[in-house]
Amino acid sequence: MSDRIQGLHHITLCTSTAQADVDFFVKVLGMNLVKRTLLYDGAEPFYHLYFSDAVGSPGNLTTVFPWRRSGRKARAGTGQIALISYTVPSGSLEFWHEHLTKHRVPILKRYERFGQPVLRLQHPACTINFELVEDDRDTRKPFSSPYVPERYAVRGFHSWTVSLRELGDMDYFLQEGWNYRQADKDGAFIRYQVDDGGPCRTVDMLIEPDKAPGNWSYGEGMVHHCAFNVPSLEVQDRVKFEVEGLGFTDCSDRKHRGYFQSVYVRTPSGALFEAAHTIGFTVDEPADKLGRELIVSPQFSEQKEELVRRLNDPFVV
Ligand SMILES: [Fe+2]
Repeated sequence: MSDRIQGLHHITLCTSTAQADVDFFVKVLGMNLVKRTLLYDGAEPFYHLYFSDAVGSPGNLTTVFPWRRSGRKARAGTGQIALISYTVPSGSLEFWHEHLTKHRVPILKRYERFGQPVLRLQHPACTINFELVEDDRDTRKPFSSPYVPERYAVRGFHSWTVSLRELGDMDYFLQEGWNYRQADKDGAFIRYQVDDGGPCRTVDMLIEPDKAPGNWSYGEGMVHHCAFNVPSLEVQDRVKFEVEGLGFTDCSDRKHRGYFQSVYVRTPSGALFEAAHTIGFTVDEPADKLGRELIVSPQFSEQKEELVRRLNDPFVV
């Protein structure tokens, strides 16, 4: 396994409402709500919800900021992550087609990408696009959900796709800065992978020269950033040092995010990447009670009720 960037860790989206996310990620896609906390950047509180397998494993961690109550909508476009793809076992797309239709989730198309069957769907409330990819190389244990039979269940991330107008320096960034190598092409898609590729080790570039750029700031209906796994803080330091040394100097200092530690870099594609080192989700609640209570940072604990009132985004799981 690579001793540098090791594959996919988590992805963070600006969505619509907390209830719409619980309905979609828990009750349709069959994930587990492993943490309910707050986004602390900025003056107004927003929920930060984490959907995953049973324990919040890196590589199977979709996090959301329900953003509708800000009133600000995102503009989708290039320079963003355009597709979030999860792995499902081969032969399961029939089930998913029926299941998604029953739950009124828009299905955009069914096709083959890099020789694999793919179903593209849309989050019904915030319009972000997702895919289910049949790939039996993914042997990770899925969450035992009451909503999706285990034999069809989502295994975790398969890959993410960045939309960009031209490849340009992004190839240099990925190969020299992010230890991903170019592996394959399929139409407008260019595939990059770490180690021997496959589920959770793949990121695709989608070249869309005629599409206008999307926005970077928070807004409903966008992927805010995606995070890759690093095995230690020493490796995270080295990645930052080396990426900056290549000239990609729009790189943050390390930020403590409670459940992992993060360094962010604005890539030449426009998409925001993160190198994340996991701490884990049991630091502030037991493994068998993950996600049941709202957790706020100790410095905000006395304001918890006031924050929930200002959040005004009620939901039930
Ligand atoms: Fe992140």
